[in-house]
Amino acid sequence: MESGRRNHGDAAIVAIAVSAIALVVVAGVLTGYVIGHNNGHTATPASTGSGSTSVSTGGGSTGGSTTGTSNVSAQVAFGAHAFVQFACAQCHGEQGAGGVSPDVPALQGLAQSLTVKQLTQIIEHGAGVSSNPTKPFMPIWHGIVSKHQISALVAYMKAGFPAVDGATSLTVPTGQGGAVAGLILYQRYGCINCHGPNGLGGVPNPQSPDTVVPPLSGKDFRAQFNTPQKIADVIRSGSVIGKAPIVSMPHWATILSDQQIAELIAYIDNLS
Ligand code: HEC
Ligand code: HEC
Repeated sequence: MESGRRNHGDAAIVAIAVSAIALVVVAGVLTGYVIGHNNGHTATPASTGSGSTSVSTGGGSTGGSTTGTSNVSAQVAFGAHAFVQFACAQCHGEQGAGGVSPDVPALQGLAQSLTVKQLTQIIEHGAGVSSNPTKPFMPIWHGIVSKHQISALVAYMKAGFPAVDGATSLTVPTGQGGAVAGLILYQRYGCINCHGPNGLGGVPNPQSPDTVVPPLSGKDFRAQFNTPQKIADVIRSGSVIGKAPIVSMPHWATILSDQQIAELIAYIDNLS
């Protein structure tokens, strides 16, 4: 599990901040218990002074309090992290600022002109893909990005893409070889969300012929993709299986460089 980047500030302040948050949480739970009904969001910004801690909100949890640096709601913070996790940031730029590829629009501004309903629809079902795309298209995320995550992404976009502590893309280390770079790229570009950890596959894609997103490991994969060129070709071009809600392989040419694709293949070569 990668943790957010953490300023190595005063350990004591961090400890105090952590216990303060624990107290707020305990108090919140007690209050909720005493009052005996769920009064909606706890929108209390847990301001931690200089604000250098990032509260790690483990796996599927929707997270408790807010982050250290921005006064954003837990939902907006969750959306900012989803924007990184699902590689929206790799195509649309960090915080939706654009500038990655001429084929992908910036989202700041644009998101304000779309309704919540339109944004939800585009994330879940894409923007309409042709069967043989020649440039990047908006992927279909139905079933990959959860409904809660889609709502959080929309809330984050509508909030104007605020900076959120720890919601930053992974840095690819240099000088450690192609397989290491590829391992990090596999997470940074969100391949892992569809092809699973270590390329094991099995992520549901119920209306596709295979009913799952294919693995990038194992005998069948190796038999079909038996040269680096074949793997590189499908990463560049993508592969559209069908219309939404079927999830297809995105088109990564102009997003990923030739070197990055070679590094991804070096990583895939090291899988079982
Ligand atoms: C592989 C690159 C890629 C990724 C990853 C990606 N997008 Fe897109 N997105 C596009 C492209 C290209 C378009 C323009 C429409 C088209 O050509 O399909 C687009 C369009 C959009 C639009 C509509 C903008 C308009 O023109 O009305 C929204 C909103 C959006 N994306 C949000 C997201 C979010 C949120 C994520 C992450 C869950 C995401 N995108 C991930 C490539 C990408
Ligand atoms: C939105 C989900 C999604 C994402 C993200 C995604 N893929 Fe795919 N990928 C697919 C699907 C679905 C297929 C199957 C396409 C087909 O059968 O024609 C596929 C096919 C492939 C294949 C060919 C394997 C096969 O059996 O068809 C390779 C290689 C591949 N993807 C690599 C990657 C890499 C590398 C990344 C990250 C840069 C990535 N994918 C990101 C959904 C995804």
